[in-house]
Amino acid sequence: MSDADADATADAVGDGNPPVRRVSDWNAERLRGLAGEHETPLYVQDLDRVRESCERLLAAFPDADVRYAVKAHTGRAVLEAVRDAGLDAECASAGEVDRALAAGFGGSRLHYTAVNPPARDLDYVAGVAEAEPELTVTVGAVDTLDRLAERGYDGRVCVRVNPGVGAGHHEKVTTGGAAKFGIPYDRAAEATRDAAGRFDVVGLHAHAGSGIDPDQLDSHRELVARMGELARDLSEPSDRDGDDPRDADPIDLEYVDVGGGFGVPYEEDAPALDLPAVAEATREAVAPLPAGVDLAIEPGRYVVADAGVLLTRVNTVKPTPDETVVGVDAGMTDLLRPAMYDAYHPIRNLGGASGEPPVAEREATPVTVAGPICETGDTLGRNRALADPSRGDLLAVGVAGAYGYEMASQYNSRPRPAEVALDDGRAAVARRRETLGDLTTVEREADRDRTDRPEGDR
Ligand code: LLP
Repeated sequence: MSDADADATADAVGDGNPPVRRVSDWNAERLRGLAGEHETPLYVQDLDRVRESCERLLAAFPDADVRYAVKAHTGRAVLEAVRDAGLDAECASAGEVDRALAAGFGGSRLHYTAVNPPARDLDYVAGVAEAEPELTVTVGAVDTLDRLAERGYDGRVCVRVNPGVGAGHHEKVTTGGAAKFGIPYDRAAEATRDAAGRFDVVGLHAHAGSGIDPDQLDSHRELVARMGELARDLSEPSDRDGDDPRDADPIDLEYVDVGGGFGVPYEEDAPALDLPAVAEATREAVAPLPAGVDLAIEPGRYVVADAGVLLTRVNTVKPTPDETVVGVDAGMTDLLRPAMYDAYHPIRNLGGASGEPPVAEREATPVTVAGPICETGDTLGRNRALADPSRGDLLAVGVAGAYGYEMASQYNSRPRPAEVALDDGRAAVARRRETLGDLTTVEREADRDRTDRPEGDR
């Protein structure tokens, strides 16, 4: 795509669909109203913004298959919005496949990426494939193919390749060079040809990592170029034993999937990803694809990240000689990313403390925002200049829509928060707040099962 075309694409999407939504763009009064009604901690996920992000992706990659990596946010309302927008679903587990099916992603819109898959997941997916023979299983190890065959699966397969080049916002999410993922590049062609004897091999796949910044585009380009080369190699007959060039048929691929990882800016002043430029670089690097082979991408974060905020209430303000600690009611159990990856999330004081002036009239004060979990790592942000926070104020933690609720846990026996979905401006509870009773449901059910059994079986 030329620069002029890219501009035209941006224009077509229009100013109503900016490349990023900052935490400062959210309507403070609306958020205060939602927190008042539903209490905190509370996730708010705006489905209209999810739709806008789908539109931007489809506009930038008009000829590609766009698949949403559902692990970023599996909420039912989000999945349905993404389905209606026209994206497919990329699932990493039986649970994700189950959710995608329930949200209406059937047949060829369903992609299961098997990472070291537990037997239970393979059993489940092989069962689903009987009713949904158009689903595709992406496989990253040769013995996963054997395990599928043992279950009678002989359907659509995509071969995941370890491209030997990775990228990402943190080493823990840099995937491309990690031995865990994919068949080593040098062995991929042979493994694919072998697989074609047993399955309907339809695609090649690689994923560099998650949260790729604009300055990591070179790694992305390299990965994409390697995948294009592999696709071209496989579209030719193979001279396997060196004497007869016709002894292995070309592989009739449908697509080359170059993964997700499209980054979003977390810092308030970081630039938005230039999606049309990434799309152009991708198309250029993969070209020429053999006739009939499409490009595919599978973004997760990009679809949902800036569509979500986490609202949390200030419980305690503690000045100390070193810093002022603002204690809030959300922590690493609600949003794990800061504790796990040292990830930065913007934080904004929305005010609301009784008797305090509006935030616009308060002085910016550097504070540490800490959660209620008994771990030092349980901070949502350090040295943040917030409009002088007071007990009772509401804080909005921005860009929390991806890997936020999804990574929430019940550690410290904390019920998971509620989530509200905004749809065309209307708010509806998408996930109710968990109760203390929810924390012990599985124990109580185990107790009941045990006491239901005859005494000799216990
Ligand atoms: N495709 C595959 C095969 C993946 O493993 C992933 C993410 C994606 C697509 C989507 O990547 P995205 O577009 O969302 O960057 N919990 C971490 C992110 C882990 C991502 C794992 N795989 C975080 O909060 O940053």
